[in-house]
Amino acid sequence: MELGLKGKVALVTGSSRGIGRGIALGLAEQGCDLMLTARDVKALEDVAQAIRAKQGKSAVRALDLREPSAAETLVEAVRHEFGGLDILVNNAGATKRGDFFALSDADWQDGYALKFFAHVRLARAAWPLLKERRGALIAIGGTSGRKPEKQFTIGSSVNAAVAAFTKCLADLGKQDGVRVNCIHPSLVETERQWRRIRGEVERTGEPEAKIRAQFCREAGLIRYGTVEDVANFVSFIVSSRATWLHGATLDLDGGEIPVL
Ligand SMILES: NC(=O)c1ccc[n+]([C@@H]2O[C@H](COP(=O)([O-])OP(=O)(O)OC[C@H]3O[C@@H](n4cnc5c(N)ncnc54)[C@H](OP(=O)(O)O)[C@@H]3O)[C@@H](O)[C@H]2O)c1
Repeated sequence: MELGLKGKVALVTGSSRGIGRGIALGLAEQGCDLMLTARDVKALEDVAQAIRAKQGKSAVRALDLREPSAAETLVEAVRHEFGGLDILVNNAGATKRGDFFALSDADWQDGYALKFFAHVRLARAAWPLLKERRGALIAIGGTSGRKPEKQFTIGSSVNAAVAAFTKCLADLGKQDGVRVNCIHPSLVETERQWRRIRGEVERTGEPEAKIRAQFCREAGLIRYGTVEDVANFVSFIVSSRATWLHGATLDLDGGEIPVL
């Protein structure tokens, strides 16, 4: 299916590894030019190299999105490198898990600085460019925002906030011609999940396949998601094939969320 993404410019946060890297490579595969960003410049250069190897165009800007000035700097870099922006994927996020009473104010502030305030600042800074090209914005939340749990108080709260912010931006997008949607992935195979699986294999001595099956069963999934599952979905949502999708918060979760 032709998605009509050739020559579009996309900014994907957290594109040095994991889901963001997968989304960036997926969009590049569809012919988008990519602005890659995270803190690890070496990892970003590796992704840029992978895109170049397939004749794609990309630029790299390493920064810490928790810094208040980072969003403006990044959008300025996009303007400078590409002259405009069609797609913004607010993906970078990391929140500390654990006992609620052991989590400090600093843990909460850190989680919100990256996964909420960076989304807000980037949306604000990139909006005029997105408006100019009638572009699309995707926020990556997480199913914990729909199924909050005691061991994931920060992540659950921030993902719910990301979904609410998506709805607000989508309302604004109606008047400005910017399409805004949010994806809530469940467990996706990235380094953080592999760490968790390895840890449980070491703790129990059970085979990896058994631990994987157990985690999926406990979470109610048919299987772990892959970064390609998320990347394919993002490419479709931002494409010319999905222009009636607006303001949606979509569970991409292998069946985890069993409610309407
Ligand atoms: N994996 C899952 O199972 C899962 C499930 C539901 C939702 N999600 C959500 O999906 C998104 C991506 O998750 P992931 O598993 O791919 O995470 P990941 O593998 O930990 O990657 C996070 C990305 O964000 C970047 N990043 C982290 N801190 C940053 C900072 N302060 N400034 C700028 N960039 C920063 C990281 O690069 P640097 O370290 O180089 O900065 C990396 O590129 C997150 O929002 C996460 O909450 C993931």
